[in-house]
This record gives sequence, structure tokens and C-alpha cells, in this order.
Amino acid sequence: MFYFFAMSAFTTFHFKGLRALVRVDFNVPLDKQNFTIRDDNRIRAALPTIQKILSDGGSVILMSHLGRPKSGPEDKSSLRHLIPHLSALLKPATVHFANDCIGSEASQLAAALQPGEVLLLENLRFHPEEEQGDKSFAEQLSRLGDVYVNDAFGTAHRAHASTAVIAQYFPGDKKMFGLLMEAEVSAAEKVLHRAEKPFTAIVGGAKVSDKILILENLLERATDIIIGGGMAYTFMKAIGGQIGNSLCEADRLELARDLLSKASQKGVNIHLPYDSMLADQFDAAANTNIAPSNQIPDGWMGLDIGPEACKQFAEVILRSKTILWNGPMGVFEMEKFRNGTLAIAKAVADATAQGAYSLVGGGDSVAAVNQFGFADKVSYVSTGGGAMLEFFEGKQLPGIAAINN
Ligand code: 3PG
Ligand code: MG
Repeated sequence: MFYFFAMSAFTTFHFKGLRALVRVDFNVPLDKQNFTIRDDNRIRAALPTIQKILSDGGSVILMSHLGRPKSGPEDKSSLRHLIPHLSALLKPATVHFANDCIGSEASQLAAALQPGEVLLLENLRFHPEEEQGDKSFAEQLSRLGDVYVNDAFGTAHRAHASTAVIAQYFPGDKKMFGLLMEAEVSAAEKVLHRAEKPFTAIVGGAKVSDKILILENLLERATDIIIGGGMAYTFMKAIGGQIGNSLCEADRLELARDLLSKASQKGVNIHLPYDSMLADQFDAAANTNIAPSNQIPDGWMGLDIGPEACKQFAEVILRSKTILWNGPMGVFEMEKFRNGTLAIAKAVADATAQGAYSLVGGGDSVAAVNQFGFADKVSYVSTGGGAMLEFFEGKQLPGIAAINN
């Protein structure tokens, strides 16, 4: 409830004549050769916020990180590479660029900014102070704008200078979430706190160890949990299955058993894939085979859920009213092992068409729904990977807390 109160601030705020300092997450994948953008979803997702400020008669100063530069400026992580595409998306607005996010050039360009114009700052992480959450760095950034808008949901789990620390340098009525942040949080809140039942969580990916906290939190909320991807084999092994050469975290077997017994105590149905698509090596050209997931012969590994599991999971998904999907069912980047993830995407789309609410998040599952063309057939596609995961682990995200407090 609290979020709703705090979050309507942006829509009702009038930006005329003001410089809005907007933290976006433009951490997008770039082509290694020519630095063109391979997926611009995060940029597009921030456009409504930018456009609302511009059409109010304000100006926008955009700040973001890109990649994980560790020792100062480097060309491959320069936000300069985003200028042509950003300019095209924001046309007719002019997009200026500052070669450093702080310092005299940035201050001068910010001061000279006219209503309707945009200034993009160079990568925040070219300064180690960003990730350190350095106060003086945050304060220098804050001086560039009259109002602070945080629209970087993808980075909301980081307590960095530009995502959290900076908020203290703006008064309560001059710091707010942008439209993307509002939409992300309201989608995630709906699923976490107001899920209509049956509520099915689909959790995939390679490792159980990455998903322990989210599974534990979901055990308190979901009616059904579907487990796919590499992590399913640790569970299979934990209950006595033969998994051949499939991925297995030997040090998580006890934990997997523990999660399964907690689930049965709480009456949560855990669905493990009946069968698997097997490969004789981890390779797109591998020989394939199908077997029950608990009877995988030595020399074979499960790289996707099998055809029976596709039906098994689709059935659960189709009788759900709320669906959360994080993590693929198999190695969908390889043609031979994409069927499981594709089947799940279809089932989620069908359930949505029947009235279910579906939220997809996490880098790989988002890439999958985009690749298969299902992005507009689910209720909400999150721009957050780690942020979304931490939200569903039940953590307070620093980027959100800094504005709410
Ligand atoms: C992401 O893509 O996960 C966010 O942009 C945050 O980036 P980080 O994981 O490097 O902090
Ligand atoms: Mg990350």
C-alpha cells in the first residue's frame, strides 16, 4: 500500500523548467565488434518516463552504468555507443553527451540544457565511487539536476551512489520513482502479495544455489512450484534418481531434500520434470535421446525437459490464475534443447489469454520470451534480472528503500 502512495508522485509532478536527473538502467548487451545494441528493451522501457518530463517542458539528464568496468574508462563500456539509437528513439529531442558523469563538462552541459533536451552522462562505473556508494560522488551527481527520478529497476538491488545514496541530497518532494519503476514494482507486488490462487511459480536455470532464497520465499506463497533447467537434476538425485552426467550440485542435495519436505508440510506441490531431453555432450550438435528424468543412463545428460514434462507442466500452468516465471527449462540457445522453454512460453501465453496474470523476469527467461515472440502475450516482462530475483527473495531493494524512507 505504501508503494502506491509514494509512487503516484511522478505522474502528478510538473517538470516544466526543471532539470530531471534520471537514473536509468541502460546496461544493455552490445555487439563485441561494432558496439551496436543487441537488445534495446531496457532503453525502450525508460522512454515513457523521459517523454513525460520532456513534454512537461522539462529537460532530462540520463545516468546509467554499462557493464562492469573495474579500472576506469574503457571503450567497450562507453555509453557513447548508445547515442545514435537513443537519438533516433527520442527524436526530435536533441541528445547531448558528457564524456564524464561528473566534473566541469557535465556541469556546464547540464546548466546549458534547454527544455525538451536530453543529456546522457558517461558510464557511472568509470568511477569506483559509484559502486562504493561514495557520498561525495553522489552529492556531485545530485548537483546536476533539480529533481531525482529513479527509473532503474534493473539496478535497484545495488546500494550504489546513483541508485540509493544520491536520494539523501534531494528533499522528499524532489525524489521519486519513474514510470518503469512504478510498473515493475506494482507487477512484482501484485504477484508477491496479492496473487490470485492457484499461483504457480516456474523456476529454472542451472543452479539450485542461485535459487534457494527465492524457493524458500515462494514456499510461503505459491500453490505450485515447477522446477526445470539444470537445477532439476540436483532435486532428482536428492530423491534417489539416476541422473547420469547431468548437472548436480553435490553439496546441495541435503538442501534440496529439505526444500521438498518443507513443501510437503506446507501443502505446496513441487513439480519435477517426468522426462528429459538428453545429450551425449554439451554441444548444439550432440546426439539426443529421451528418458525419464530419474533414469538417465551414464554418459548422458539432461539439457532440456522432455515431451511428457512439457505436457505435465503445461497442465499445471493452464489451471493457474497467477504465474511467475524465472529461468529457462533447458539450454534453449541450442535448437535441440529449446522445446521445453518454448512449451512453457506457449503455456504461459495461453494461460494469460484465459485471464491469468503472468510475470516473466530474469535475463534468460526474458530473452526466451522475446526470442519466441511471446513478450506481448504475457502480462508483464520485467527488465530486472538480479533485482527481480532479490525482490522475490523478499529483500528490500536499496534503490526503492532510498526513496521510500
Ligand atoms: C543487471 O543487468 O543485472 C543490472 O544492470 C545490474 O548490473 P550488475 O549486475 O553489474 O550490478
Ligand atoms: Mg546482474
